[in-house]
Amino acid sequence: MESSHDSVVRIALLGCGNVGAALVELLSDPARREELRQRTNLDLQLVGIGVRDLNKQRSSASWFPSDLVTDDLDGLLGRDDIDLVVELLGGIEPAAGFIRSSLEHGRPVVSANKALLAEQGVALSALAADNGVDLNFEAAVAGAVPVIRTLRISLAGESVNRVLGIVNGTTNYILSTMATEGSDYAHVLGDAIALGLAEADPTADVEGFDAAAKAAILAGLAFGSVVPLDQVFREGITKIRSVDMAFARQFGYCIKLLAIAERVGDDEMSVRVHPAMVPLSHPLAQVDGAYNAVFIEGMAAGSLMLYGQGAGGMPTASAVLGDIIDAARNAATKSPAPALSNDANYSVIALDSLTSEFYISLDVVDQSGVLAQVTKVFGDHNVSIRSMEQVGIGEEARLIFLTHEATERDLAATIHDLEALSVVDAVGGVIRVIGQSEDL
Ligand code: HSE
Repeated sequence: MESSHDSVVRIALLGCGNVGAALVELLSDPARREELRQRTNLDLQLVGIGVRDLNKQRSSASWFPSDLVTDDLDGLLGRDDIDLVVELLGGIEPAAGFIRSSLEHGRPVVSANKALLAEQGVALSALAADNGVDLNFEAAVAGAVPVIRTLRISLAGESVNRVLGIVNGTTNYILSTMATEGSDYAHVLGDAIALGLAEADPTADVEGFDAAAKAAILAGLAFGSVVPLDQVFREGITKIRSVDMAFARQFGYCIKLLAIAERVGDDEMSVRVHPAMVPLSHPLAQVDGAYNAVFIEGMAAGSLMLYGQGAGGMPTASAVLGDIIDAARNAATKSPAPALSNDANYSVIALDSLTSEFYISLDVVDQSGVLAQVTKVFGDHNVSIRSMEQVGIGEEARLIFLTHEATERDLAATIHDLEALSVVDAVGGVIRVIGQSEDL
C-alpha cells in the first residue's frame, strides 16, 4: 500500500520503442508498481510519454497508459509537474537539446543514448552537476550489465589498466554461431537478419560503430579523459572467415569483437574496436550468443568481469529503472553524483605505435623456396614468428603464422610487402591476438 512517506517522482519518458515500452510496463503494471514502491519508498509515476509517431502500434495491455502518449515533446517538457526525464529517443538532436533544457530546469535525466553520451557525455554531466542533479546512463553500454556504475562508483579509487568489452550482442551472436556451426559470415548474418536477431541494415553493429561509441564511454570513465569518437580505431567483423575461426581454435583461441580501452604509459591511452583472438582460457572466451561482458584489469583490484544481457527491451529497461531510482534518491537528499572527470587529459595514442601479437593467414604457391621468401619479409620488418602451420589446399598451400609482439607499423609494412610477392596469392586474414593478463 502507498504510504505517506513515499516520495512521488513524476516521470516524463521521451521515446517509446523497444526499451521505452518495456520501461512503461515496469512502471505501469500494478503488481510491479507495488513491489517497486515497497522496495524503494518511491512512488514512480509516469506522467507523459513523448513519441515521434502517434500512429505506431503500442501495447494493448490493460495497464498501458495510452492517455499519456503525445507527440508534442516540447509541450510535455514545458509542463511544471515533471520531476525527472528519461530520454530514450537516440541520436544527437533533438535528444541533446531536451536533455540540456531538462538539466537546466533542475530535473535529473536518465538516458540510454550511447552516441550522444560518447560525444557530449562530459559536457552534459558538468551541466547536470552545475544544476545539482544527476545524469545517469547505465543503459548506454551493455544493457543490463552494470558497467557504468561499476567504473564510476565501485572502481572510483581504482587505477584501471585495461578494459576489454564484448559490448555488441549482434556481432557476438554472429561470431559465436560461425564458430559453433562452421558457417560463413554472410550465411550467419543472413539468418540473423531473417530471425530478427540483427537489424535489416546491420552496418552499425557489424562495422563496429555501436561498439566504438561504447568504447569511448568506457575509456572516458576508466581513465577520466574525454575520448573523441573520431579517435577510436574501428574495424568490424565482415572480413572474419570461418576458416580463421577453425585455425584460431586449433591454436587455442576464439575470435571476438572487442571494445578495448587501454592505458599506455603515463599519459596516453588506446581506444579501439576490432576483432581479436582471445585465449580459450580467458573468461571472455566463454561469452557466447548475444551476451555482453566487460573485463576490467585494475592495479589494486586485479581482474574482474561483468556479464549479462546487453540488449533487448526488458534488460535495458532494467538498467534505466535502476538509474531512475538512483537519481530520484539523490534528488531527494540533494546529493547528486559528481560530474564525470576529464582531468587526466590522456591523449589517444596513434594505432601505428601499438604492439600486439598477430595471426596472419596467407594463401601461397606450394613450391620450394616460398617459405623462405615469405619469412624473409617478416624478418625485414622485425616481425618475429612465434609459430607456423601449413595446410595444403589443392595446388596451393595455406600458411598460418602467429607472431610475437610487433608494432602495428611493422605489421602493416610486412603485409604490404607480402601482398607484393608473386608467390602470395592472397593475404586471407590478419587478426590481433589479445595477451593474457598475468593474474589469470
Ligand atoms: N545493437 C546493439 C547490440 C544493442 O547488438 O548489442 C544496442 O546497443
